[in-house]
Amino acid sequence: MKAVIPAAGWGVRFLPLTKEQPKEMIPVVDKPTIQYVVEEALAAGIDDIVIITGRHKRGIEDHFDRSYELEAVLERGGKLEYLRKVREISSMADIHFIRQKEQRGLGHAVLKAKQHIGDEPFAVMLGDTIYRSKVPVVKQLMDVHKRTGKSVIAIEPVPMDKVQDYGIISGKEVEKDLYLLDDLVEKPSPEQAPSNLAIAGTYLLTPDIFEAIERTPPGLNGEIQLTDALKILLKKEDIYGWRFEGKRYDIGDMLGWLKTQMELGLLHPEYGAPLREHMENLLKNGPGRTR
Ligand code: G1P
Repeated sequence: MKAVIPAAGWGVRFLPLTKEQPKEMIPVVDKPTIQYVVEEALAAGIDDIVIITGRHKRGIEDHFDRSYELEAVLERGGKLEYLRKVREISSMADIHFIRQKEQRGLGHAVLKAKQHIGDEPFAVMLGDTIYRSKVPVVKQLMDVHKRTGKSVIAIEPVPMDKVQDYGIISGKEVEKDLYLLDDLVEKPSPEQAPSNLAIAGTYLLTPDIFEAIERTPPGLNGEIQLTDALKILLKKEDIYGWRFEGKRYDIGDMLGWLKTQMELGLLHPEYGAPLREHMENLLKNGPGRTR
C-alpha cells in the first residue's frame, strides 16, 4: 500500500509563521507535524510515501533527507541519542516528492500522484492532521477496505456550527461506525449540511478516483476539491465512511495547533509532568510578573 501526503498549501492561517517555513514543518512538541503523519503510515505498514509539495516546501525534503554534516558533529560530540534520532528520520521510508506547480486544490494535488500510484488502492493522509489512537487510523481504513473492496473515508461528528470548516458526508449506518455514503458536500453552511459527519483527514481510495478528479470542475474557492471528485466517484461505486476510533488533532489553524501542543505536551513521557505543574501554577497564579 502506498500513501499520498498532500502538503502543498500556503498555510495562510499561520502567517507570519509560515512565510518561509512550510506549515507541515510546524512543530508539535518535539517533531514537525508531517513526521507524525509519516510515522502513522509506517505504523500501518505503509512504506512507500509520496509527498506533494510546492514552492517554499524545501524544508520538508531536507527534514527527511540525510544530514551528513550534522551526523558527523553529533558523532564527534558523543551525542549518540540525538544521532540515533536524526538517522532514524532519514531512514524512515521510501519517500518521493512531487511538486504541484500551481495550487489548484486538494483534488488536484492528489491527481499529481497518479503515475506513482498506478492501478492500486492507496491512502491519502493530510499533512496537517495527526491522531492518537490504539490502531493507526489509516490502518483502520485499510481493514474496512479489505472487507468491502471500496473506498473508505475517516469521518467524525463535529458541532453543527463547525460544519463549514469541513467536507460533510451523509449516509446510512450499515453496521456500527460504518456508513454507506449517499452524498458529500465541501464546507456547507449549517443550513445546507446534510449531517454533522465531517471528513476527518484520512482516505483509502480506489484508483478510480483519478478519473473522477480529472472530470471534476473547479468548486469552492475555484479549486478542484477532492470532496467533489468523491461525489462523482459515488455515482459509479460505493464509498464508505468509517467513524474511526481515536482522537484527531487538527493543526489546520492557530488555536487547534496551540491546543494540540498543550495536550500532546502533557502526554509526553519526559516533559508531561513538569509541564502540568507549570500549567497548574499558571492557572492558579496567572502569568509571571515582569519587574
Ligand atoms: C480538507 C478537505 C475537507 C476535510 C478537511 C479535514 O479541507 O477539503 O473535506 O474535511 O480537509 O481537515 P482543508 O482543511 O484543507 O480546508
